[in-house]
Amino acid sequence: MTAHPRTGTPVVDIDDIGTNPTSNPSFNDLIVPLLNRRRLVGLGVGTAGTALLQACGGGGGGGGGLPILPSAPAPAPAPAPAPAPAPAGPMKLGFNAVAKSLADVVTVPVGYTASVLFRLGDPITPTVATYRNDGTDAADTFDRRAGDHHDGMTFFGMNASNKWDPANATRGLLVMNHEAITPVFLHPAGQTIVSGARTVADEVLREFYAHGVSVIEVSKSGANWSYKQDSSFNRRVHTLTEMTLSGPAAKTDYLKTRYSTDGSKTRGTVNNCANGTTPWGTYLTCEENWAGYFRRTNSTGATPKELASFGRYGVSGNGRELWATVTPDTADNLYGRWNCEVTGATAADDYRNGPNTYGWVVEIDPFNPSSTPKKRTALGRFGHEGACLGPVVVGKPLVWYMGDDARGEYVYKFVSTKSWSASDVGGGLAAGDKYMDDGRLYVAKFNADGSGVWLELKLGENNITAGYANYAFADAADVLINTRHAADAAGATKMDRPEWAAVNPKTGEVYLTLTNNSNRSITTTDAANPRSYSAPKITGASYSGNPNGHIVRFADKNGDPTSLSFKWDVYLFGARDGASADVNLSLLSADNDFSSPDGLWFSEAAPGLLWIETDDGAYTDVTNCMLLAALPGKVGDGGPRAITNLSGSSSRVQNTFVGKAPGTEGLRRFLVGPVECEITGVAESGDGRALFVNIQHPGEDTSSADIGTPGKFSSHWPDGGNARPRSATIVITKNDGGLIGL
Ligand code: FEO
Ligand code: CA
Ligand code: CA
Repeated sequence: MTAHPRTGTPVVDIDDIGTNPTSNPSFNDLIVPLLNRRRLVGLGVGTAGTALLQACGGGGGGGGGLPILPSAPAPAPAPAPAPAPAPAGPMKLGFNAVAKSLADVVTVPVGYTASVLFRLGDPITPTVATYRNDGTDAADTFDRRAGDHHDGMTFFGMNASNKWDPANATRGLLVMNHEAITPVFLHPAGQTIVSGARTVADEVLREFYAHGVSVIEVSKSGANWSYKQDSSFNRRVHTLTEMTLSGPAAKTDYLKTRYSTDGSKTRGTVNNCANGTTPWGTYLTCEENWAGYFRRTNSTGATPKELASFGRYGVSGNGRELWATVTPDTADNLYGRWNCEVTGATAADDYRNGPNTYGWVVEIDPFNPSSTPKKRTALGRFGHEGACLGPVVVGKPLVWYMGDDARGEYVYKFVSTKSWSASDVGGGLAAGDKYMDDGRLYVAKFNADGSGVWLELKLGENNITAGYANYAFADAADVLINTRHAADAAGATKMDRPEWAAVNPKTGEVYLTLTNNSNRSITTTDAANPRSYSAPKITGASYSGNPNGHIVRFADKNGDPTSLSFKWDVYLFGARDGASADVNLSLLSADNDFSSPDGLWFSEAAPGLLWIETDDGAYTDVTNCMLLAALPGKVGDGGPRAITNLSGSSSRVQNTFVGKAPGTEGLRRFLVGPVECEITGVAESGDGRALFVNIQHPGEDTSSADIGTPGKFSSHWPDGGNARPRSATIVITKNDGGLIGL
């Protein structure tokens, strides 16, 4: 999700809106590698300088796939190189840092090539025309085109029998989220709105389809990757795709709607942010800022509990895209389903429960294009950023770590009841029924002494009862649907916007980005969210709270992901190079300073190599968003630290635990993206020699008033010239065929 709204003026990050009113403490008071599936790895040889993937002209999507665009002025890649071997020895970053940049290009180190693979609007069937990219492409073709705002992404290697083959280095299914839209570029001149209502139904249909998920077949030919436009695996999942509601909350009164009077299904998925995987080979897409899409302008007829639920999740107003305002509605309530006001006699007659059918982790089987995705209610309902699979051990339960991204929200984990059996590999959604519909949900409490506990969210436990003051829990489904209330009752720690989690395959330790929090004051810091300060921008604006974010990490006790206690420290603090010692606590320099960490992912081909992506609005006077490579240590490799936080003439000391400063050997900037983009989504081919990265919403601050004046667009990436900018997937390879980043 972007750091900006769609008005064209940076005002507020949609994610950076808290709806947690509790006084839960912020605590000043208070292995086994995944499926063992990859070849091992070693050193790469770095080369000096940087290469650029510039905005460049042309490029079409016809025929058997999108041609790889040249990455001028990068050196031409060697054709089909024999892959560089993986030397023995300790792992080292093998590239020279990319400089911060405000240019409208993708910059990668010299010795690497970045190519555009899959852009907004690119067709995924042979019968759909090349994208014109002028707002006139037919709305009813968008269910067969790449969606907008590419986000979380997984590469599923595929063998000649079309089965999951994780180690496959040349062919696979690339599955990615399309979180949101930049409407100014999606339509001829932005959204048509008359007297507060959407009046062009085709524009709304385009938007319905531009959200969701893409499944595309990709393959490598020579040195180049492309997607196969006519693959039978290509698929779009979007806001009109039927979904099954599965797990303990399914078929309960809370999920009944006019669309599904028994609460067994819903229509669509929306605001799909980060992703997750399963050990049986399916994809998890996570519904983050779904609450903002619903219309609720009055409370007439709603029960006090329904109002408490709407309030805790922030369901109010007209809906961010005004989808419910289209008239007339269709017989199947294509538009009216986004209105959750009480309009009918019962819940089965309207969509008052519509929001209850969103906010879940959704499982998709990419190898079965006709399968119906399943919303897994056992994993709780909140602003799901992502779902990171923990260490997988035969005979042990499976664990997923999950962040709820809004100011002051929480960190969760789900532990399956069933223990993992490798015989379920390839089991599709039936395996999901086994492991994801039955388990225990926990929320994290970080203690001031560097310890922490997992609190179970279960009726009758941890203050989660009918007598809880803010929400009277009735049954198990109520706890899952109102997970935020349950976590409030349990006393979880309010964090600085939990984004992605990643598990270090070498240690099993969990890393979690806390992107920023404008609302963290010097009196509300805690040990795990320890900074509050001002960060002036060169341009005059300034940001306060925790504007640059940090990455916390924790180790479940005894290396067991099912443990109910952990120890933690702060691995890394975002900061400007040159910021004060109480802000730049990780001693970042020009080669690795960053702000607002978001995407986070450990390579599986190179265990121990961590990729960090930024979604920033606080350091954007100096640099566009970026991707960094890191070689982190472990919890406790630094030590205790007393931070002096400042606000005006006031100060307050906050004690915390800070990891060892990484230096440039442990953290280095690998890529900088084009203007106003977010870098998000990261995946690798089965041999780790191709890295897929998403560039989300370049040029998003362009005003609709400027749409007729292309020279005023803030970005033209990736097509260049006067083209409208497009979110896109890029693929990065090393010119010697070696491992990326090493
Ligand atoms: Fe969609 Fe929290 O990022
Ligand atoms: Ca994110
Ligand atoms: Ca973000």
